[in-house]
Amino acid sequence: MPAETQNPSHFPVMLPQVLEGLRIRKDGGYLDGTLGRGGHARAVLERLGPEGRLLLMDKDPEAIVSAERLFGADARVAIRRGSFAALAEWDATRAGLDGVLFDLGVSSPQLDVAERGFSFRNDGPLDMRMDPTSGESAAQWLAHANAHDIADVLWTYGEEKLSRKIAAAIVMDRETAPFTRTSQLAEMIARVVGRGDSKIHPATRSFQAIRIFINRELEDLERGLAAAHERLKPGGRLVVISFHSLEDRIVKRFIAGHAKAPPGNRRMPAPEHFSPSLREIGGAQRADDAETALNPRSRSAVLRVAEKIGAPGAGAGA
Ligand SMILES: C[S@@+](CC[C@H](N)C(=O)[O-])C[C@H]1O[C@@H](n2cnc3c(N)ncnc32)[C@H](O)[C@@H]1O
Repeated sequence: MPAETQNPSHFPVMLPQVLEGLRIRKDGGYLDGTLGRGGHARAVLERLGPEGRLLLMDKDPEAIVSAERLFGADARVAIRRGSFAALAEWDATRAGLDGVLFDLGVSSPQLDVAERGFSFRNDGPLDMRMDPTSGESAAQWLAHANAHDIADVLWTYGEEKLSRKIAAAIVMDRETAPFTRTSQLAEMIARVVGRGDSKIHPATRSFQAIRIFINRELEDLERGLAAAHERLKPGGRLVVISFHSLEDRIVKRFIAGHAKAPPGNRRMPAPEHFSPSLREIGGAQRADDAETALNPRSRSAVLRVAEKIGAPGAGAGA
């Protein structure tokens, strides 16, 4: 058995539901915007015939290297490093897509390799970028951001109740020594927040918040959903797995906004004729007990599926 299939945290999350949601046709064209270590991609590829096509994207250069190794020799596969927010700018998507998958958040290798700087458990440089070659690292941002902005990020993306206290401590402590290591930040937060009786590490919410901010995860999601919608052919499927409520809210609203007419309002002019362009398939789905017992990460997963509706020919690029 390959090493990566022995560790439950490396199982692709909600795989049967993803495959059912994508409703794969052997000759279809699919895009996995969050390739990671390729678990979902491999399963999609196994269901494609020789005429099928699989486009793979990830922001993370290491995911791209591993994809080249795993799938590079397969003529049905094309690989591109970049955010799924820009998927419609990739020429390969111009012909239109039969399915798009986003399995959001960070991958096991990103969390497990201390050097990537995502983990408060394993000490590493305070980085947190999915693409370490672009933008500011967490350390760079925390070195200059003001207390108000830091508190805002911790509250908005982490719902951290002690956001102001933590932000003030960061700004004060960095006068003596800049924050450069994950353990340094995690220990400081644990001191400020205290252990309490919670089972989760006191730095969990703050690390999540800083990661979401540094990687512009919610902005990318909004843009990625719009780009997927643009490129899906009629009958094509959008499948998104979210891991926290902020992401799921964006996905839910996006689907609803394209599936249902906005509710009427006596004080507003009547909306123009609404023509739905998505159909929601089922509601929010969650991992079953067997999966959550095996893979704790799947406990917070929420999967949503939508189908593009519209005139034939829509979805393919101009
Ligand atoms: C949860 S993992 C995906 C795991 C993958 N489905 C598998 O089976 O191995 C999420 C991956 O998406 C990537 N990612 C997150 N946001 C992205 C974005 N906006 N554009 C491209 N890749 C992104 C991360 O770098 C990470 O590798």
